[in-house]
Amino acid sequence: MNRTTMRALILRRHGGLSDLEVVDDHPLPRATEGHVVVRVRASSFNYHDVFTMRGMPGIKVPLPVVIGLDMAGEIAEAGSGVSAWKPGDRVLVNPLNKQKGLMGEMLDGGMAEYCLVAADQLVAMPSRVTFEEAAPLPVAYGTAHRMLITHDTIRKGERVLVLGASGGVGTGCVILAKHLGAEVIACAGSADKIKRLKELGADEVINYQEVDFSKWAIERYGKPQRRSYDGGVDVVINFTGGDTWQPSLRCLKRGGKLLVCGATAGYDPKEDLRYVWTFELKIIGSNSFYDDDLKGLMQLIEQGKMKPVIDKVLPLEEAAEGLRLIQDREVFGKVVVTP
Ligand SMILES: NC(=O)c1ccc[n+]([C@@H]2O[C@H](COP(=O)([O-])OP(=O)(O)OC[C@H]3O[C@@H](n4cnc5c(N)ncnc54)[C@H](OP(=O)(O)O)[C@@H]3O)[C@@H](O)[C@H]2O)c1
Repeated sequence: MNRTTMRALILRRHGGLSDLEVVDDHPLPRATEGHVVVRVRASSFNYHDVFTMRGMPGIKVPLPVVIGLDMAGEIAEAGSGVSAWKPGDRVLVNPLNKQKGLMGEMLDGGMAEYCLVAADQLVAMPSRVTFEEAAPLPVAYGTAHRMLITHDTIRKGERVLVLGASGGVGTGCVILAKHLGAEVIACAGSADKIKRLKELGADEVINYQEVDFSKWAIERYGKPQRRSYDGGVDVVINFTGGDTWQPSLRCLKRGGKLLVCGATAGYDPKEDLRYVWTFELKIIGSNSFYDDDLKGLMQLIEQGKMKPVIDKVLPLEEAAEGLRLIQDREVFGKVVVTP
């Protein structure tokens, strides 16, 4: 590579969308020992990028930074000591750098033409998986895979209620729960999202802007019972938190599971422990995406058993618009950027 600069989407300071800028003079990384330079073919946004843009308490981001956690591409250059990978290899990047933390937050991420990546973050892409299919996987679908499949939380025929079902993690949960044979009740906040969730295969849909999802579930399946396993749903998937937490506890059947991996609307919700002990509920946390989750997902795509939901594919010049769509809850599935 003779060039010394590249195009990238930079976050200059914490704040809002106006603090993001596409530049064409960001230093092009060179491969260092144990690292490769990936030519980014596709990257994708997550709600985490909104948190990074705004700034999160306790997380000191070294600014300016290239945002974007997810990326897939080809190796452009391999550094010394890298023997398992060579230029041209197609790779998906696990965004967690073991030394420094998350890509796109603690070090430059995927919203750029090229990115420096430690060799142990690379996962080989099967030839039948495209870059646009792979880029939406790591953070959102990887975490959904971990919650449902790696943690073995869903049984065939169980009733699984998914909150925030229209988003990245949400569409991943709907697809994987259906794949596992569950009856899926998908909840979202607009008529259009509800329609698309039905098309995605949800058995039941609830617009929680109009209907109390917890009451709906109790009316539909009966009140959960203390001395039997009648009533309620088997599983609630909740990464929204805030005022959705207590209603989630209320509609779970005895022995039911509440799966949690985030808290978009607030991490310290009002709690009611009586539901937890009376109905012997299990609260199961999941954090991040391991290489096996990413390999499992790419295998499912290769076998034709799943397809990530991509709402929009944008060029780097319009990437900030992609993040606005996520911030304003106007996305169904994922926004992919092709630098
Ligand atoms: N622990 C981990 O490793 C991990 C990994 C991935 C994600 N997460 C967390 O999981 C959450 C979802 O991430 P994502 O990337 O899937 O986000 P996303 O694509 O933006 O989807 C979130 C969905 O939640 C719904 N929602 C409900 N209340 C909301 C609110 N107050 N603000 C914004 N959206 C709201 C929205 O749907 P409606 O408009 O239809 O309600 C939205 O589609 C985030 O909190 C994220 O940080 C954690």
